[in-house]
Amino acid sequence: MSGGWLKVVGLGPGTEDWLTPEARRDLAEATDLIGYQPYVDRVPPGSQVRHPSDNRVELDRARHALQLASEGRKVAVVSGGDPGVFAMAAAVFEALDDPNAPQAWHRVALSVDPGISAMQGAAARAGAPLGHDFCAISLSDNLKPWDVVLKRLRLAAEADFVIALYNPISRARPWQLGAAFDALRDIRSPETPVILAQAVGRADENLIVTSLGAVDATQADMRTCVIIGASHTRLVPRDGAQPWVYTPRSYGVRA
Ligand SMILES: C[S@@+](CC[C@H](N)C(=O)[O-])C[C@H]1O[C@@H](n2cnc3c(N)ncnc32)[C@H](O)[C@@H]1O
Repeated sequence: MSGGWLKVVGLGPGTEDWLTPEARRDLAEATDLIGYQPYVDRVPPGSQVRHPSDNRVELDRARHALQLASEGRKVAVVSGGDPGVFAMAAAVFEALDDPNAPQAWHRVALSVDPGISAMQGAAARAGAPLGHDFCAISLSDNLKPWDVVLKRLRLAAEADFVIALYNPISRARPWQLGAAFDALRDIRSPETPVILAQAVGRADENLIVTSLGAVDATQADMRTCVIIGASHTRLVPRDGAQPWVYTPRSYGVRA
């Protein structure tokens, strides 16, 4: 059967206002929605068949989506934020890249709809902390060893990147964020601005602007994106609110 397709659709971090028109159109045209249950639940009601699943079954989800699409269904795999950032797009390509993947999967019309990533939403709320070179690191050691995480943190700190941390903490990973702050404190000054951006774009959004010396890891949860400034990241005071945080585009600015 032909006419099927598979689109990996980014829903953004929360608010419907941050859903792109392309994503909205593809979700409306899909016959099937596949994804982690809370993300499937975020798609407005329609006639699509919904296939919600638990967390941590990304590859199963990806194979299911490729199979349905190869049978002629119009499948949207939904992902929070951007689907290419620590999310489902890579899982779909991993499934496709498997030597045992059926040839029919390679004939599926496949595309990825970008979404606003959590670090972009968090940065916009805080000001412009990603205004100069930055990197993103997932603190999850489910898919890579903690030694690798620590090495990347240290090298990113030494290279003076602004660092966005994803997956900072969870019930199964309670100590990693504290250990990450400790590792960064060995290299960066205690005055370094730190942003804890929780549930960005949702009703219970909360933003904390603090410093590396003062930050408390227990203030973060699994819906938090943490941004740690570079040596030239600055604060701009504002009346009645936490200061803006920005990173000048040039090292020469007000040095
Ligand atoms: C598996 S990653 C998915 C990232 C997603 N693909 C993106 O581009 O934002 C999940 C992590 O993203 C961050 N995150 C997702 N939604 C968020 C939100 N609304 N506010 C703050 N951080 C969020 C948190 O660090 C969370 O632990």
